[in-house]
Parts: sequence; structure tokens; C-alpha cells
Amino acid sequence: EAFGAEVGAEMGTEMGAEIGEAFGAAFGRAPDGVWHAPGRVNLIGEHTDYNDGLVLPFALSRGVTVAAARRDDGVIDVRSRQAPTAVTAPVDGPPVVSEGWPADRAWAAYPVGVARVLREHGTGGASLLIDSDLPQGAGLSSSAALECATALALCDLHGVEIDRPALARLAQRAENEQAGIPCGLMDQSASLLCTAGHALMLDCRSGLSSQVPFDPAAAGLTLLVVDTRASHALGGGEYGRRRAECEEAASLLGVDALRDVKDLAAALGSLKDPVLRRRVQHVVTENHRVEATVGLLRAGALPEFGAMLNASHLSLRDQFEVSWPEADATVDAALRAGARGGRMIGGGFGGSVIVLAPAARAERVGEAVTAAYEKRGWTPPRFLEAVPSDGARRLG
Ligand code: GLA
Repeated sequence: EAFGAEVGAEMGTEMGAEIGEAFGAAFGRAPDGVWHAPGRVNLIGEHTDYNDGLVLPFALSRGVTVAAARRDDGVIDVRSRQAPTAVTAPVDGPPVVSEGWPADRAWAAYPVGVARVLREHGTGGASLLIDSDLPQGAGLSSSAALECATALALCDLHGVEIDRPALARLAQRAENEQAGIPCGLMDQSASLLCTAGHALMLDCRSGLSSQVPFDPAAAGLTLLVVDTRASHALGGGEYGRRRAECEEAASLLGVDALRDVKDLAAALGSLKDPVLRRRVQHVVTENHRVEATVGLLRAGALPEFGAMLNASHLSLRDQFEVSWPEADATVDAALRAGARGGRMIGGGFGGSVIVLAPAARAERVGEAVTAAYEKRGWTPPRFLEAVPSDGARRLG
């Protein structure tokens, strides 16, 4: 008997029907609902979020779907169609990171962490079945999508109302304090606040955001997302090191955050450490590039956006030093084949690259990138469709 199939049928999506049935098989009852939260692509504004700066992500159509049922016993029971282990944990517990979970349960730190943070705001337990069509390690924020889908489900199930900008900060807190990963605010905000056909201009200090129309197809362009197949993880230490360097530079410059550096030349002149100078140069110029890009998009000057992508990539490669060989080779091959621009996205050291190409040339650009990988004996890249989509929502 297909428990939950009717919840899925109501949603009119195959993913919904499937996850409803799978929930029934796992928990012996129908779910109370199904929620979805997308992954993201960041157009520009990289390593600016934790410097109180500006970012411009959009939501993908792919993401994490959660079927869930409320529990009143203070327990969260979470299973994933992508992981073999079920994890049961009390909602009332210490930070997950302090419990030293084994590697095969690590994925569950995100939903359990969210449940522990949201508990302070009135939510409780739940049975959750998770499904994802987002490649993991591709730097497309599968962990933020998991946090945000869980957060929405828990709030709805327990009748707790939290506005979305605040929910994004709580999901970020869960990742920082519960999963032990020092990420900024961008990914959770993108997953919760984006709307179809737009990129989200977010000021990570004030939390204020605005929707910026982004429709490359209308301008005869295609935005390709290239998963370089070099796996990305923020736990590796380099991400935390970059954050620490930015904080050190801000404190030497006597500002709260690098966002506040107004005179770049003076700041560079006063810093002795060449590494810190490079970090500051990236963050300050990247914030300018976000503002310039928003101007270009609002003016409908999409082709010119290519130059911003290239400048951002060079800055991330040479000043912030977070690029990786597959990303550099992707941008290089794409430009040679006639792309307007391209850059690495996300934290770096693995993950994805975006490429802006004239639609008529997109296929040739993709082939050139694949050929560049073949020549070097690398795992072939994967290409994803990047359609600016709606943020997290209840499906049924
Ligand atoms: C990761 C983090 C974000 C952000 C980016 C770099 O995606 O999760 O908070 O810092 O790296 O822009």
C-alpha cells in the first residue's frame, strides 16, 4: 500500500509522489507534508558574505526535497535516499559537532543541527525522509538546501512563524555551531529568498535584499554551470583560514569588516603582509563588481557581464588564491571557444564554474571544455542547466 502517494499526487509531481511513497515505506504512515529547498549558483560576490559584503546568487531548479511528519516525543528521526544510515537523535542536545558523530552520519548533522537550533524558537521533533537531485561536492550548496528544507518543514509542522531572512540566519547558525562549518550567510539566503527569473542582491550586513531580473536567454546568452568533478568541501581548513585572514586584516585596518574599507590604495599601503594585502584587494574589488553587475543587469547589458566574471575569476585565482586547476582550465577553454566570460563559484578548491556564452556557441563551448579535460586525463565535467528558479517552498 502506497502510504503518502496521495500527498504526492496532490503536488502533481513525480518527485512528490515518489517521496511520499518512500516515506510510507520507511515510517509506516503518510507524511504531513513535503517541502523543497533549492541549491544555488552565485553570479558574483565570492568570499564577500562573511566580510559583511554583497552577493548576487540565484536559486537552481534542483535541490533537496523533504517529506516529514510531526512528532511530539522530542525526537528527530532522519533518513536519506542518498545515505544508507538512519539517524535518530533527541532534539534537545548539545551542538552536534561536539558529539563526534562517525563519518557515515555526518550528513545528518545538518537536519539535526537545524532542529536543535530551531527548538529554541518553539519547534520540536519530526520524522524526515530526504531526497536530493543536487550533486554533492559540486559547490552548489546541497548542505544549505538540506538545512532550509528541514527548517521550513519543522516550522510548518510545529506552527512556528519565522520570517525568511531570520530563518536564513538560523540555518547559517546551525551550520556554524552544529555542523562546525564557518560558512557565511549567502547560501541559506539564496535557498530561502530567491525568486524565479531573478538573482538576489543581498547585503550581508543589513540583511536587506532585492530581486534583480536575470534572463540570459532573452539576451541570446546561455549560462552554463560546469561541475568540474573536483569535489568541494568547506571543512578542509582553507576556507576557515581565508576567513581568519580577512578578520585579521580588518582588525589591523581598524574596521569592523572588510566591507568598511573605503580607500583601497591607503589600506594596501598600510598593510605589511603581502598575503593580507591580496585578500583585502579581492574582497574590496569584488564588492565593487557586485554593484557594477547589478547596474549592468538592470540596464539589460548582459553581454558586458562577461568581463565582470573574468575579473572575478582572476581575483579569486591570484588574490584570494582559492581556485583549482580544473576551474582555471574550464574558464580558459571556454573563453578560447568564444564564451563572454566565466569564473569559479563558491568557496573554492573544487566545485563548479559558470560560463556565459552566446546561445549559438554554447554547445561548442561545452565541447571545448570537455576536450580540455580529456587532454589532461581528468574525469569529464558535467553540465547543468541553470534556470533562475524559485526559493524554498512547501510542495504539498
Ligand atoms: C561557501 C560558503 C558561503 C560563501 C562562499 C564563498 O559557499 O558557504 O557562505 O562564503 O563559500 O563566497
